[in-house]
Amino acid sequence: MKDQRILLIISGGIAAYKSLELIRRLREQGATVRCILTQAATEFVTPLSVAALSAQPVYTEIFSLKDESEMGHIRLSREADLVVVAPATGDILAKMVLGIADDLATATLLATNRPVLVAPAMNVHMWHNPATQRNIAQLQKDGVTIVGPAEGPLADGEFGPGRVVEPPVLVEAIRGKLAGLAADDSSAPLRGARVLVTSGPTHEAIDPVRYIANRSSGKQGHAIAAALARLGAQVTLVAGPTQEPNPPGVQTVAVESASQMLAACQAALPTDIAIFAAAVADWRVAEASGDKIKKGATAPSLHLVENPDILATIATAGPRRPKLVIGFAAETDTLIDNARSKLARKNCDWIVANSVARGAVFGQADNLVHLVTASGVEDWPRLSKEEVAERLARRVTDWMKTSGNKDAG
Ligand SMILES: Cc1cc2nc3c(=O)[nH]c(=O)nc-3n(C[C@H](O)[C@H](O)[C@H](O)COP(=O)(O)O)c2cc1C
Repeated sequence: MKDQRILLIISGGIAAYKSLELIRRLREQGATVRCILTQAATEFVTPLSVAALSAQPVYTEIFSLKDESEMGHIRLSREADLVVVAPATGDILAKMVLGIADDLATATLLATNRPVLVAPAMNVHMWHNPATQRNIAQLQKDGVTIVGPAEGPLADGEFGPGRVVEPPVLVEAIRGKLAGLAADDSSAPLRGARVLVTSGPTHEAIDPVRYIANRSSGKQGHAIAAALARLGAQVTLVAGPTQEPNPPGVQTVAVESASQMLAACQAALPTDIAIFAAAVADWRVAEASGDKIKKGATAPSLHLVENPDILATIATAGPRRPKLVIGFAAETDTLIDNARSKLARKNCDWIVANSVARGAVFGQADNLVHLVTASGVEDWPRLSKEEVAERLARRVTDWMKTSGNKDAG
């Protein structure tokens, strides 16, 4: 979400406090968040808290000489990639439907030419009221994205749909919306590019209940798929078993074993670019048992055989080889030398090398990587996995601009 600008309108519901968490999470992802509070919202959260968390001035008054001269409501409504109303009261939804513009929030909503996403939150009866349901149907027709409400216990002690969706869910919806906008945006730098990304570990069955796995979390590969989608690429993500949510705007294919991952990758071809971030098991059990192996007097010995090499197979796929093939090398020692030899041995174009000594990477939020190409080694600073993904996506974009249709040099 780096460099994305979000105009967050907070209206006057009990769930307004959750918008504070939303602002924090959006900013963590690199977004700039500007906020408007309705008069009623100021009864629930203070403009001071919102200003402190967003690190931006907060706007509340339409007839404020200061606000209007600094940032008029028309400019406010246009200088955003996405307008989000969260929580959205029954009242503000009704005003949006009618085009009422009697305060700063609603005047901005009427004036905006940017896409709008709303997260309704209200008492279950307010939500079920035919007026609200008519309003929601109309807003959908008008092209507004509705997220939620969620079902559960409500602040007033009742139960049902009406809760605002939790901040992490809303962040994902916002990311998805922004990714969709990028895909539709003819100026998106990777629009039209087809990309295959692999992510996560593989599980190699020993018997129906046991398997061989590794410590990969899928965080890095999933972040790469999401970053590419945000730039407009058409991404297929082949993911081993992970806890990571499917990235928005990405076609995710879930697999378990290395053999399944290879088959899914081959089915995804042809693509322009392939990025292999998955930690594929090198070996599998030659013959997994169909029944659970019983505990006996002696421990069973496992006969392991080598798994297919997915990176090398796709990188030598002849005419179906993607033009840019990027591998990952997770090494515990002699990182760069191993990455260089992997580059040549596996016929890939770039290697993202990271040290996994002493569990420094798996499951962590950040990563220290080196980009190894035929022309040399770039040492990147320690970055969050999101930032590594953004940076790699930008490098891919540069490659597309300069040599995308020639060779990967
Ligand atoms: C304690 C309290 C909680 C409220 N919670 C909600 C709510 O969750 N959703 C809602 O639609 N209205 C809620 N309301 C009613 C709104 O505050 C009221 O309709 C107000 O006019 C909305 O103004 P706004 O849409 O300009 O923010 C609540 C009111 C009070 C007093």
